[in-house]
Amino acid sequence: MGLAIIDHYFGTPSQSFQTLFLAFLYYKVFEYILYLYDAFVLSPLRNVPGNPWYVIFGQYALFYERYFALGGHKPHVIRNQLHYKYGPVIRVGARAISVCSPELVQEVIVKEDYPKSETARWLFGPNMREALFSIVEKEVHKRLRRLMSGGFSISGVAKMEPLMQTVYMDLQTYIEELIDKNGGEATMDIWTLVHGAGTDILGITTFGRSFDSIRNPHPPIVDFVESTFKYLSSTASLPVIRKIPFLNVNVEYHKKEANALKMCDEIVAERKLPEKKRSDNLQLLVDGVYNDGEKIDRDTIYHNLFGLLVAGADSTAGAMGFTMKYLIQNPTFLTQCQSELDACPVDSRGLISQSVVKSLPFLSSCQKEALRLGTGRDFQRVAPRDVVLGGFQVPAGTEVNCCRYALHRGPWWKNPDEYQPARFGAAGDGDEIGAFAPFSLGTRNCIGKNFAWQEMRVIVANLLRRYEFEDIPGQDEECGIWINLMLKSNKYMCKIRRRRDVKA
Ligand code: HEM
Repeated sequence: MGLAIIDHYFGTPSQSFQTLFLAFLYYKVFEYILYLYDAFVLSPLRNVPGNPWYVIFGQYALFYERYFALGGHKPHVIRNQLHYKYGPVIRVGARAISVCSPELVQEVIVKEDYPKSETARWLFGPNMREALFSIVEKEVHKRLRRLMSGGFSISGVAKMEPLMQTVYMDLQTYIEELIDKNGGEATMDIWTLVHGAGTDILGITTFGRSFDSIRNPHPPIVDFVESTFKYLSSTASLPVIRKIPFLNVNVEYHKKEANALKMCDEIVAERKLPEKKRSDNLQLLVDGVYNDGEKIDRDTIYHNLFGLLVAGADSTAGAMGFTMKYLIQNPTFLTQCQSELDACPVDSRGLISQSVVKSLPFLSSCQKEALRLGTGRDFQRVAPRDVVLGGFQVPAGTEVNCCRYALHRGPWWKNPDEYQPARFGAAGDGDEIGAFAPFSLGTRNCIGKNFAWQEMRVIVANLLRRYEFEDIPGQDEECGIWINLMLKSNKYMCKIRRRRDVKA
């Protein structure tokens, strides 16, 4: 009887499945039409210029742009082209815009201090939820930032210079071995070498130990962080997969996660021993106490250990890698930097202190110019209320992406695609035009800026002082963006030998 009623109203089982499927389809089509109507007719963003595909295809357009367009990993190039075509405010989604002029970027991240977008929170996964860069709520962020800022001040990071020099000495020893083995001149991948040094500096200052990644470029902790990104992106379209415990992807990921957390337990326990104390990022977190006297909790310590690794290792290594690449390709600039360095005092190991390097104008300009061309990730914010940006109505809740790549390459720079360090010199327009923000600006700027500058000075200055570099032309120099801007090939080869006139 019951079945007969169902048959009467819904037909046979296969018919009822079809009916349900069609109903679902009609509902989705109706929903999509409403979405388009809202986006193109009702939304105040309808007046913002840009490519309509971002609205029509939404997330799929972004996915295509990220992984397939122009060979993949080049959304920054596409966005720069769109800004050149449509102007400093463009629409990049139903509820998303991109801005790039110095004035608008200043307005969003400094003057009006828009909050960070929620994207920051889930992007890096569950073990970085409480990391400084992931926190969205302004008060929570301010509290943790205050706790960490002393350690990242100029005087705070100066205490870590000896640790950074230890890593430089490891790098030098490794290079010397290769030069000797190859009869005085070796061919090396300078990009990978400085990435190894960057990762080891994060290891020694933040995890209490070098990861030895100059010799072994894939230490387990970096592998865990990379696996997290792969795991999150491979399961992003169907997150329910993450809830099925016996699936291989979950078993493998949780095994790595357990090992990484166990390692954190060990290093934190060891660092709590009075005889193991030292001035570094790890100690800063282990001893961390907020203004109101509350101690930092276990999760926050761990999330920030991983967070500093993600935020600080590849970014600084990339800046060093690009500086080396540009100097090796421009021997005149390289020689000018070496002349500056040759006039500097060195210690008994032949090392120049970062406080001396800081005052070298041409080397600093070369590093700034590499930061201009070699950084590119957006600053992602949300409009806190209905606002007017660049003459366009922008409703509350709109994602406002400040496109750093376009800011660094816009028409306000002369010959923006060329590596010209002199633009940051005394007569240059580099800092003055307000379009240089490799470390962002405002309350969410990079807390690791002093750390990064110190590291770049220790590694790059000492390498340049001690070695002669020769370019190997014709290499693949295409860049792509993952977390940071990188060489897609992930390597840059050069010839390297000792400089005859350097003694120590
Ligand atoms: C050349 C190297 C580096 C570059 C270009 C860089 C760039 C940036 C940028 C652009 C932001 C802010 C993004 C935004 O406004 O949304 C940022 C934030 C951050 N960076 Fe860096 N960074 C570098 C090195 C480092 C280092 C060495 C560390 C730590 C050891 C670090 C730790 C952080 C943290 C924790 C944040 C979040 C700050 C907050 O939200 O309060 N960074 N970085």
